[in-house]
Amino acid sequence: PPQIPADAVQVHLQQFQSIGTANGGNRAHGRPGYRASADYVKGKLDAAGFTTTLQSFTHNGATGWNVIADWPQGDANQVVFLGAHLDSVAAGPGLNDNASGSAAVLETALTLARTKPTVQKRLRFGWWGAEELGLIGSKYYASRLPAAERTRIKTYLNFDMVGAKNTTTWGVYTDNAALRQQFDAHFRAKGIPTRGVNIAGRSDHASFAGIGVPVSGITSGNDPCYHQRCDTITNVTAGVVATGATAAADLAWNLAGAARR
Ligand code: PHE
Ligand code: ZN
Ligand code: ZN
Ligand code: ZN
Repeated sequence: PPQIPADAVQVHLQQFQSIGTANGGNRAHGRPGYRASADYVKGKLDAAGFTTTLQSFTHNGATGWNVIADWPQGDANQVVFLGAHLDSVAAGPGLNDNASGSAAVLETALTLARTKPTVQKRLRFGWWGAEELGLIGSKYYASRLPAAERTRIKTYLNFDMVGAKNTTTWGVYTDNAALRQQFDAHFRAKGIPTRGVNIAGRSDHASFAGIGVPVSGITSGNDPCYHQRCDTITNVTAGVVATGATAAADLAWNLAGAARR
């Protein structure tokens, strides 16, 4: 499985920072910085050959969007789903929370499109709107899935806050023992310590757990600028995000049955 380089994720982080700066200092639901973030992600995915959907919803009188991307290979009845929330709080541009997870999932998807491994299962990627207002976008997506579509989703992996500076140990969600073990094994092979974390209902994996999907995810170390104005590009380290993205790609490729080559 591929090693995702720091410079590739740094490009996305810089774009999210620029979008925040150009749009009143945030990328929050209902603000122009959110829509610009969604357009950036969708543009990259479209150019790489993904089948993308911009799913709109309304919350607090404002339109929000989820970006969904399918890689058109593998059994569509068996979906491996990776996701991250794309919105920030209104206080700042949200570079760790959650441009980091958005960049990690985006670069994982783009790496898939570049390397084109043969996969047995369908890989799907989601960027959620209005997470900060109560998981609104991911709950909307999950609620609109027909029952047959729900059972096709075999795994959902969440990436929320994966870029904290000075990260020494990675938090692995404890929701599913088998998935947790796969993340632990990935990090152990790289000599990186992990700890179990219970994010409970505080991020978008909860929307998928709520419809019966096995879920997990990872998060980096302590964030001193959590939900603050100082959660800018200087609050994140691209190398940390790349480490998270490499873990994402490793599990995604393995779960989708990618042929090694
Ligand atoms: N970033 C989430 C939020 O602000 C909460 C969270 C905390 C997620 C810790 C992962 C780890 O909504
Ligand atoms: Zn609402
Ligand atoms: Zn948050
Ligand atoms: Zn978050």
